[in-house]
Amino acid sequence: MSTSFKRSLVTAALPYANGPVHIGHLAGCYLPADIYVRYLRGIGHDVKFICGSDEHGVPITIKAKKEGITPQQVVDKYHKMMGDSFKEFGISFDIYSRTSSKTHHQTASDFFKTLYDKKVFTEQITEQYFDETAQQFLADRYITGQCPKCGNENAYGDQCEKCGSSLNATDLINPKSTLSGNKPVLKQTKNWFLPLDKLQGKIKDYIEAHSNWKTNVYGQCKSWLDSGDGLQPRAMTRDLDWGVKVPVEGADGKVLYVWFDAPIGYISATKELLPNNWEDYWKSKDSRLIHFIGKDNIVFHCIIFPAMLMEHGEFVLADNVPANEFLNLEGDKISTSRNWAVWLHEYLIDFKNQQDVLRYTLCSNAPETKDNDFTWKDFQTKNNSELVAIFGNFVNRTVVLTHKYYQGKVPPAEKYSKEDLLVLEELAKFPQKISSSIEQFKFREAIQELMNLARLGNKYLAETEPWKLIKTDEERVKTILNIALQITTNLAILSEPFLPFTSAKLFSILNCKQINWLSAKQTNNLPAGHVIGKEELLFNKIEDDQIQGQLDKLDESKSANALNIQLTAAKPEITFDEFTKMDIRVGTILEAERVPKTDKLLKLKIDTGIDVRTVVSGIAAFYKPEDIIGQQISILVNLAPRNIKGIESRGMILMAENAKGELSFVSPTKQEESHNGSTIK
Ligand code: MF3
Ligand code: ZN
Repeated sequence: MSTSFKRSLVTAALPYANGPVHIGHLAGCYLPADIYVRYLRGIGHDVKFICGSDEHGVPITIKAKKEGITPQQVVDKYHKMMGDSFKEFGISFDIYSRTSSKTHHQTASDFFKTLYDKKVFTEQITEQYFDETAQQFLADRYITGQCPKCGNENAYGDQCEKCGSSLNATDLINPKSTLSGNKPVLKQTKNWFLPLDKLQGKIKDYIEAHSNWKTNVYGQCKSWLDSGDGLQPRAMTRDLDWGVKVPVEGADGKVLYVWFDAPIGYISATKELLPNNWEDYWKSKDSRLIHFIGKDNIVFHCIIFPAMLMEHGEFVLADNVPANEFLNLEGDKISTSRNWAVWLHEYLIDFKNQQDVLRYTLCSNAPETKDNDFTWKDFQTKNNSELVAIFGNFVNRTVVLTHKYYQGKVPPAEKYSKEDLLVLEELAKFPQKISSSIEQFKFREAIQELMNLARLGNKYLAETEPWKLIKTDEERVKTILNIALQITTNLAILSEPFLPFTSAKLFSILNCKQINWLSAKQTNNLPAGHVIGKEELLFNKIEDDQIQGQLDKLDESKSANALNIQLTAAKPEITFDEFTKMDIRVGTILEAERVPKTDKLLKLKIDTGIDVRTVVSGIAAFYKPEDIIGQQISILVNLAPRNIKGIESRGMILMAENAKGELSFVSPTKQEESHNGSTIK
């Protein structure tokens, strides 16, 4: 590698432990980070790969509330689930820790105390939003509203995910509590702020010294630094009870801001991994720190965390922050809450032992420079037309012919033709090409080169046609198969970072131990006379029905989403007395007819037990008049009469809505026990 660094510490963003891993996470940072680390290990570089669960912050407490369990139960569940699925997918962390660990609490707490003692923070009493119904301060994701920078209606109290700006809750236009849906009030409270305004100069120098960063990253940083009012002070503590307690006096009921504690998690996890020499990676100029993240994390990793580290004084700052853009799914933004995702743990069940197919698809389609789309159709094509038809086909033909003609013994290459020499020359160039792409964080380009190597092999076999030559020129076939086997061997070596399962399988087919990446510049890694193993299919065709199954699953989510959209925050609380004011009864439909000149309305005659009355109801799209005579329904009988299309409507029929927005009657299910006029309470 063309750097002066002795070792590297590679981190992948600590995912919130509030849901399972999905393909957006993988494409955004875990897969590129894993490829990078596997490559560095392959070339013998000293590297450690750090990750863990981010278990604090509002996303966790919101999830706990939604599931009716404690935050601790939420993080325990998802920490295990995420850790397991990363592992099964071949993400090769050296440690997958968690921010609830004791070491982390201590490390984060000490870090804060150091900055506090150095008088880095400014202590400020400010007005923060407070939800009077929930009796709670509303930090970060507890509050949504319109982004003052880009107008996005769904910006969070700490960040707008649309434009990436970091925000303070009080910046939001029309703020709303996500707890109650209410408009919050302002209430005074004391917090400790990182004075990014005063640190602006230093941060700017740091960023500008890294104009080699990916343009999406460098550009975003520059635009914040150069924007009108520049960087603003940012509170590093919150009035919440879930998190790392603020370790100073007068801070009861306050925890560290999750974006203060979480990146320190990289340090804590390194300590847990290397209790004796973690400092080699964090405090030595010979060590290079690289953060793999998604684009919504840029401000925290390029500005806030470096500012914290600078002010602390003992640590190295990131040398690079290769952030990816977002991956969409079938044209829509991936969303945990809307269940619009391909969940890794489900993929691993539905496509058993096919980790590399997803790794291949996500890498060749990685959102490196712009947002990108994952589609199941494309997944199928990538598998069937590239992995199966090119890579798998080449390897299979080579192995099968070697067994058929030479009982699995690698034949000697006796005399090279001009064509052979050209192929060998090409073969020798691949490691350099792939290395160079990986070192520039161009993983799409790198994996394309890998597939080009398989293409080279395929083309070579197609042109030399050893299956024909065997009848006329047996000597020549030896050389051809020798070369094909060398290509196969180098494919096994070079595919390791991208397709580790395939690489391992290939080495086993070749009956040899894993060979070091650096050897791939040689073109004679498999000696003549070596006996290879049994043939085995590397990839299997993926059929249409499997793809349809996945699309059907997404359709279900889409229906459920329609439902979820109805499930907005509860309406403001009412008293029991207010509830009992509503007189809801069981009734029976006696007559039904369309209201002329309307599409939606039916005029119903209802026996309410207390009277027979007319009600106009907007259900014509869901029920035919003749089908609902005799139907029992629920009716609000004391609603003030309303005139609808010239008909006096007295009361309202209660309807339930399904995921498609269709309405159906709410009626007693034990019919024999409910008579007209019985009350619903
Ligand atoms: N949990 C954050 C997210 O998912 C990422 C935290 S990265 C760290 O967006 F640096 F804070 F750890
Ligand atoms: Zn915005």
